[in-house]
Amino acid sequence: MQQSSELFFVSSNTHKFEEAQRILSNLGLKINLYKTTLEEIQSNSLSEIAKRKALDAFSKIEKPVIIEDDGLFIDSLGGFPGPYSSYAYDTIGNKGIIRLLENIELRNANFTAIIAFFDGSSDVKLFESNIPGKISLSIEEGGWGYDPIFIPDGESKTYANVSDKDKFSHRSASLKKFSDWFMHMQ
Ligand code: IMP
Repeated sequence: MQQSSELFFVSSNTHKFEEAQRILSNLGLKINLYKTTLEEIQSNSLSEIAKRKALDAFSKIEKPVIIEDDGLFIDSLGGFPGPYSSYAYDTIGNKGIIRLLENIELRNANFTAIIAFFDGSSDVKLFESNIPGKISLSIEEGGWGYDPIFIPDGESKTYANVSDKDKFSHRSASLKKFSDWFMHMQ
């Protein structure tokens, strides 16, 4: 296991951390959780939001940090909720999303994850991945967040019920890019 006890995943979301920890551990990288709520600016750009979160996270602990910002982009809703995914989840939730898509056949969507790394030197580094898929017709049992309504391409079940979410997830694709870069830096 790579010696990186100084690398902190800063988030208030323990689901995200547990998945990230498992994914990175399989890639030979150890991370610690620093649990806190980060400043989330209003912006149409996930990258901008991620950058600001990374700077805010670093200012809190002054150690190398990674943060993650995600967005669910639904084609027939013009990309909504996208950068507003967290707000949409807390307000209309999965029920509201399914209702917005009632009688709409085109259910294509993308789940995007941006991992941002900052250690106080040079710029914030960003690692982005988009996973194509579609929104289910109804809400499945299990999972967390949008898991019960997002079906990754090539699967018939949502993230909540695929046999190995890490194999398909937006999170693991971005973390893989991050770890490739990070391992080379060490
Ligand atoms: P955030 O702004 O990065 O926290 O994420 C936007 C929204 O997407 C939040 O409501 C998260 O709970 C949700 N989200 C992010 N990743 C996942 C996932 O892997 N499964 C389900 N929901 C997710």
